[in-house]
Amino acid sequence: MKKLNEILGTKYPFIQGGMANIATGEFAAACSNAGALGMIATGGWDGDRLRQEIRRAKELTDKPFGVNLMLMSPYADDIAQIILEEDVKVVTTGAGNPGKYIPAWKEKGIKVIPVVAAAVLAKRLERYGVDAIIAEGTESGGHVGEMTTMALVPQVIDAVSVPVVAAGGIAD
Ligand SMILES: Cc1cc2nc3c(=O)[nH]c(=O)nc-3n(C[C@H](O)[C@H](O)[C@H](O)COP(=O)(O)O)c2cc1C
Repeated sequence: MKKLNEILGTKYPFIQGGMANIATGEFAAACSNAGALGMIATGGWDGDRLRQEIRRAKELTDKPFGVNLMLMSPYADDIAQIILEEDVKVVTTGAGNPGKYIPAWKEKGIKVIPVVAAAVLAKRLERYGVDAIIAEGTESGGHVGEMTTMALVPQVIDAVSVPVVAAGGIAD
């Protein structure tokens, strides 16, 4: 199995968490320049704002970075389309099932890494050809489930054969 940094094209096997209104293009570029995968968050932004932020990140880094699609966003369809148009290399998704967007992203060669809070969703998304899964426990405090990270991560690892990234309280 390939290592996460080999899949992402980064120096280190770390993905910066998407954080709505915090993880701008400038923020993501700084993380990518430090050797992780920087992520531009999109919660609350419309498609035009995301386009600006992607272009800003491209000015500031030549390293790979990604975009986090918050599936509860009213602009989710637009954002999914801009990810295709702006040649984004990696997408993570939060707060739901991104299944309807995955075929178009995969066709463009985009790496797709959904955040899940249950092994059953990880299993379902693996069938779409996702590149890895982020298993995020309740310690993250976000829009995830109630299972703790240390209970969730081994369940997801047993359920899928793609790489699994642990999130939720890991750095605390
Ligand atoms: C301030 C803040 C905003 C966040 N916004 C988003 C978001 O827009 N989309 C998303 O998928 N996750 C969001 N998250 C979750 C993070 O991306 C990450 O998955 C989570 O913080 C991991 O848990 P940890 O910080 O305990 O390791 C947010 C987290 C924080 C702290």
